[in-house]
Amino acid sequence: MKAQNFIPNTYKKTISNGSFIWSSPSNIALVKYWGKKENQIPANPSISFTLDNCKTTTTLHFEKLDRATANYSFEVFLEGKVKADFKPKIETFFKRIEKYLPFLKDYHFIIETSNSFPHSSGIASSASGMSALSLCLMSIEKILNPDMSDQFFNKKASFLARLGSGSASRSIEGELIVWGKHKAIIDSSDIFGIKYPFDVHPNFSNYRDTILLVDKGEKQVSSTVGHNLMHGHAFAEQRFKQAHDNLDMLIGIFKSGDLKAFIKVIESEALTLHAMMMSSLPYFILMKPNTLQIINEIWTFRQATGLHVGFTLDAGANVHVLYPESESEIIDAFIKDSLAQYCQNNHFISDQVGLGAKQL
Ligand code: DP6
Repeated sequence: MKAQNFIPNTYKKTISNGSFIWSSPSNIALVKYWGKKENQIPANPSISFTLDNCKTTTTLHFEKLDRATANYSFEVFLEGKVKADFKPKIETFFKRIEKYLPFLKDYHFIIETSNSFPHSSGIASSASGMSALSLCLMSIEKILNPDMSDQFFNKKASFLARLGSGSASRSIEGELIVWGKHKAIIDSSDIFGIKYPFDVHPNFSNYRDTILLVDKGEKQVSSTVGHNLMHGHAFAEQRFKQAHDNLDMLIGIFKSGDLKAFIKVIESEALTLHAMMMSSLPYFILMKPNTLQIINEIWTFRQATGLHVGFTLDAGANVHVLYPESESEIIDAFIKDSLAQYCQNNHFISDQVGLGAKQL
């Protein structure tokens, strides 16, 4: 499927006003998206667990204007308060998607959004936020074009979300989503995420992700800046190849349920992501001393107990602790007793793999 397939024919129906509400989850990449080409095309394929508790709920009110505006007409509220600094990002998003949703200038929109996780937690809300907004916009398009199938609805929602933020393309459905072309996954695509199509061993059911909030501050490096650092990066080509190979390995691991091998891949991915930042120009260290303390504690605990606890990282200092449901009682206690002390105000968020976005 090509981008052109998402340009609609003339709409059969009209609607003058209304509102839609969607809640959409965050996701955690196991193979990381780091580096992109023009038009939000990823430099390598990625795969993520969709989360369950960490989500954004967005209400989109829309009212048809007497005549189309030259610019986009919208207001944004976060947790009930005007959020002017979200406007430029949404305006860029609208510009990128207007070709695919030609009704955007015909309406005035009020976007009300709230997150289930605290605003300053260092958890990026762009994946959940951009996917929730894309789904609300798709609900409008579905009224204008009622013949649209559910499958097309989800594909286009992911396609639009990608244009807002790459990782948002992986937040529409669950539980495992692949975004980016990979040779072993025939339907995989650079322009939208798809559900992982192969067998997944029950070891991965309700897989846990406890997010340790090491640093709740604003991101030091925006992801857009970060992705750009991969242009001309000395190790870029090797890294992109490694992501393909790691995804290949995960296909076997998801089938067999080999958790030791799983941990090896995801921890290597996390450390490689940070190694890319440390070896780019300019270079960055986004881990904090407590990030390393936690990693060492996890390794020591794993060695001592033989339990299957591993970690991954985003482009920040927080640590995502990943482990199977069957071992969660002991590992939850370990997190509370030994890892929480490294978090800001002992703060962590318990989450697990989820099924994707929901219309409310
Ligand atoms: C490290 O999706 O936030 O979390 O497309 O520029 O909005 P933009 O980037 P974004 O990048 C996410 C990077 C990552 C890895 C990942 O989620 O795959």
